[in-house]
Amino acid sequence: MKILVINGPNLNMLGIREPEHYGNETYAMLLDKIQKYCDQKEINVSFFQSNHEGALVDEIQKAYFDKVDGIVINPGAYTHTSVAILDAVKSVMIPTVEVHISKVNEREDFRKISYIRQAAVCCIEGKGTDGYLEAIDILSEKNNEN
Ligand code: DQA
Repeated sequence: MKILVINGPNLNMLGIREPEHYGNETYAMLLDKIQKYCDQKEINVSFFQSNHEGALVDEIQKAYFDKVDGIVINPGAYTHTSVAILDAVKSVMIPTVEVHISKVNEREDFRKISYIRQAAVCCIEGKGTDGYLEAIDILSEKNNEN
């Protein structure tokens, strides 16, 4: 099984940015944790992070041609604004789980809006970086059903 983990803007700043919301783990630590988890489960995982909306759309489209089985995506602030990312996920028809490290539903009102949600299998929020591992479990169970 092939899983692609996509992180949007400012997630490369994990460990530095607002630790009260995002904790102290760095982006490199997050990737290492996901990689080890996937190794145990014999899942082929790859990573992509960008601060640019179009680059995120390009990567989602590329996943179609690369025959990716599942996408884990934390679109960062683009969650709340991007119809383009929603359309990209709809276009590729790859099961996608939306992840947020922080409790988006308990923060500012604008963070309660998610465009991507309507195309996602589900949304995991407020579980810190463990949310990414939960998303991988969901995608792997779904893949086994097929
Ligand atoms: C986030 C929540 C978003 O509102 C924010 O813009 C982010 C990170 C999260 O992981 O909790 O960049 O997606």
